[in-house]
Amino acid sequence: MGSIIVLDREGKEHKLNAQSGLTIMEIIRDAGLDIEAACGGCCACATCHVYLDKDSFSLLKSMQDDEESMLDQAFSVNNYSRLSCQIEYEEKLDGIKMTLAPE
Ligand code: FES
Repeated sequence: MGSIIVLDREGKEHKLNAQSGLTIMEIIRDAGLDIEAACGGCCACATCHVYLDKDSFSLLKSMQDDEESMLDQAFSVNNYSRLSCQIEYEEKLDGIKMTLAPE
């Protein structure tokens, strides 16, 4: 078991236990943080949008087309934006850091 670091919208840092096989969205949601994830992880809502820090971003697998086109329609996207439901946690991601995007 590893962990991820998530900054909430108030700037408060949370260290969450992370288990391989779960998506980042599921880890954040199950910890009770405020992430809407309206579509439940189907890559259809963009309400699981997070900003990775630069080093963390570089560890992720590249985006699939459906994530890219959903992010195209999302607000406040930056170079380190990802949809957290499309990132599956694995051991090499231990310690990655991200911020919840505004609602
Ligand atoms: S939860 Fe809807 S796109 Fe991720």
